Amino acid sequence: MIKIAPSILSADFANLERDINRISAADYVHVDVMDGVFVPNISIGIPVVQSIRKVTDMFLDVHLMIVEPVRYVEQFCDAGADLVTVHVESDTEENIHAAIDKIHAKGKKAGIVLKPKTPAEAALPFIEKVELILVMTVEPGFGGQKFMADMMPKVTALRKMIDEKNPTCELEVDGGVAPDTCKTCIEAGANVLVAGSAVYKAEDIPARIAELRG
Ligand code: DX5
Ligand code: ZN
Repeated sequence: MIKIAPSILSADFANLERDINRISAADYVHVDVMDGVFVPNISIGIPVVQSIRKVTDMFLDVHLMIVEPVRYVEQFCDAGADLVTVHVESDTEENIHAAIDKIHAKGKKAGIVLKPKTPAEAALPFIEKVELILVMTVEPGFGGQKFMADMMPKVTALRKMIDEKNPTCELEVDGGVAPDTCKTCIEAGANVLVAGSAVYKAEDIPARIAELRG
């Protein structure tokens, strides 16, 4: 089954509880954390995850776009994240392993993220120990960008690697996913689709979530 993870980057932060309730038909709440260093934008952090946790039982998928995420992963787990994903480009291989281990020690799911220019093979050192791999289909940092269809061969390559090495691992895509691009992601092998603007700009959000399932 295809899962939909609306990104609250496109929500109204002054009405976050309302905007999380609006996506109750979805599977995950995708939370984009940006530090202004790893990406050229600043969004939200640990206190906001804590506050979200108090108002929803939905699965919180926390996407860390921060340098050296190993410094903060435990705090995000304690704040209520169910899954924490870290970019492979954000630190050394050793420290990415350490971040994954810390997330697991907290009893939470761990994932890795690949920026558009990062090849599928960059997932190999971690593929057997993560619960999710996220392929960026835009340059991370901002919502509302154009979908990069040229990422689909990477998604297909990762689907093959996952099926061989860790079949229960999920494969997520993030950026520019909309009714006209969701099917290509699903055909390429993704099973979790992040969508920010396509969900929050919709007139009928539950109908849009259903549409994105392909
Ligand atoms: C981008 C974020 C995405 C973003 C997606 O850096 O990781 O999650 O919110 O937004 P849309 O779906 O509008 O491209
Ligand atoms: Zn994201």
